[in-house]
Amino acid sequence: MSTFNELVTTRYSVRRFNSIPVEEDKVHSLLELARIAPTAHNLQPQRIKVLSTPEELEMVDECTPCRQGAQLVFLVCYEQGAAWERPFDGQHSGWVDASIITTYLMLGAQDLGLGSCWVMYFDPEKTTRLFELKEGVVPVAFLPVGYAAEGSVPGPRHTERVSIEELLL
Ligand SMILES: Cc1cc2nc3c(=O)[nH]c(=O)nc-3n(C[C@H](O)[C@H](O)[C@H](O)COP(=O)(O)O)c2cc1C
Repeated sequence: MSTFNELVTTRYSVRRFNSIPVEEDKVHSLLELARIAPTAHNLQPQRIKVLSTPEELEMVDECTPCRQGAQLVFLVCYEQGAAWERPFDGQHSGWVDASIITTYLMLGAQDLGLGSCWVMYFDPEKTTRLFELKEGVVPVAFLPVGYAAEGSVPGPRHTERVSIEELLL
């Protein structure tokens, strides 16, 4: 099995983190992945907040119940005016671009021996207010990242996936 295949097949959403902080060089490596990820028309509308102080983590907890003890959280956003717009219908690429960045962070974390869990269950209005996101900056995902607590296991539905036949239209 290729390294990539192993990476994606062993990854699962970690929902119990221990308190060991994520090393600065690992944070930097992850931000480098967020920087080089592809975006529509290479417009790079992704904007990220790195949250790790007790005050910041407390604010994350006010926006979502899904931090699960992680000591590091990425807040992945995009800047509306910076995203590409499809001329046919005005559909913009912000959500897609930010989701690619979040996927890179998620898999990059796995590659560094860290766990993560994509969180979309958050209050966007509160997030915008507490983290003072400027107008036009749209929060897409919180990504708690850290070392999985001892005994952390995949959720019961982790292996439930549709068959290839079902996903084909
Ligand atoms: C777009 C998206 C949003 C998600 N939002 C949440 C969330 O708010 N809270 C949470 O605990 N998990 C969340 N998850 C994790 C999914 O529940 C999880 O990926 C899915 O159940 C499959 O499990 P696995 O990641 O262990 O393979 C989200 C995942 C994605 C891709």
